[in-house]
Amino acid sequence: MKNPYKPYPVTIKNIRTETEDKSLKTFTFEFDSPGDEKAFDFNCGQFGMLSIQGVGEIPIGIASSPTEKPLVKFTVFKTGKVTGHLHNMKEGEVMGLRGPMGNGFPMDELEGKNILIVGGGFAFTTLRSTIEMMLQPENRSRFKNIDVVYGARTPGMLLYREELEAWEKRDDINVHITVDGTDDPDWAYHTGFVPAITEKCAPRADADSVAIVCGPPIMIKFTRPVLKELGYADEAILMSLENRMKCGIGMCGRCNIGRELVCHDGPVFTLAELNKTPGEF
Ligand SMILES: Cc1cc2nc3c(=O)[nH]c(=O)nc-3n(C[C@H](O)[C@H](O)[C@H](O)COP(=O)(O)OP(=O)(O)OC[C@H]3O[C@@H](n4cnc5c(N)ncnc54)[C@H](O)[C@@H]3O)c2cc1C
Ligand code: FES
Repeated sequence: MKNPYKPYPVTIKNIRTETEDKSLKTFTFEFDSPGDEKAFDFNCGQFGMLSIQGVGEIPIGIASSPTEKPLVKFTVFKTGKVTGHLHNMKEGEVMGLRGPMGNGFPMDELEGKNILIVGGGFAFTTLRSTIEMMLQPENRSRFKNIDVVYGARTPGMLLYREELEAWEKRDDINVHITVDGTDDPDWAYHTGFVPAITEKCAPRADADSVAIVCGPPIMIKFTRPVLKELGYADEAILMSLENRMKCGIGMCGRCNIGRELVCHDGPVFTLAELNKTPGEF
């Protein structure tokens, strides 16, 4: 049995700067040892522990779809010690990856459903994974209508510009892009906060509808009543949480919210589950 604390060695194959302020970069990794890519058998919504020897280890959501294997992508916001070091690394350098961790989105339970995806800021990473997966020819018929509302502060802060353009050209997904504000006269999409655009563009829920919501707490706070108004039951709203982590495998108790361990029982919870931890979430 593999030691869960031992990382897989991975090499940085590609680095893409996502945002105009260069605070977000997507790192594409290749596994160094044959067979490790199969052992790292992940689902949409799971995360990995990225480690840099002598610097530290951090949890980061998996941004690539399982259909993009054997490569695996992570989009990282430069915020402190480990992320700052990672942002200075170059293609060809080697680091560590543990995982996959957490429950991820219940893709089998989402089959046959209308999917509404609401994302804001860089929490959109695991939503990219989910959308890419659902849009693959072998998967698209497993899901009904797919609607995406995605917002960033400014046009230059939007992630995954190439993918957004490709999704927009398709007629089997509705993409509603918004920014908080812009002085670009050529801006062709929405302007306004994610909850307002959700209210304006998202479809009403029926018995087969599920919403997946990831974003900053303020976005989630104001999106919740909109989804309720649109008819989404708390059981049909999935959210991905973040918390401080150490082991990532449910052993150290560092990441608890009430009785739940975010790394092990989550990071994906339904809103109905989170309602049972009042004061914590
Ligand atoms: C399940 C999960 C998925 C995540 N996915 C992503 C992702 O896709 N992309 C991404 O850029 N970040 C993601 N994060 C957040 C990421 O783990 C932190 O930004 C990172 O640990 C900061 O490390 P650092 O050493 O650079 O910062 P530090 O020097 O440790 O701290 C700098 C700042 O980051 C904050 N911070 C530290 N650890 C965390 C943490 N675990 N969660 C939230 N804030 C933290 C601190 O409060 C401080 O403000 C995720 C976190 C979790 C738990
Ligand atoms: S990080 Fe150790 S229990 Fe969750």
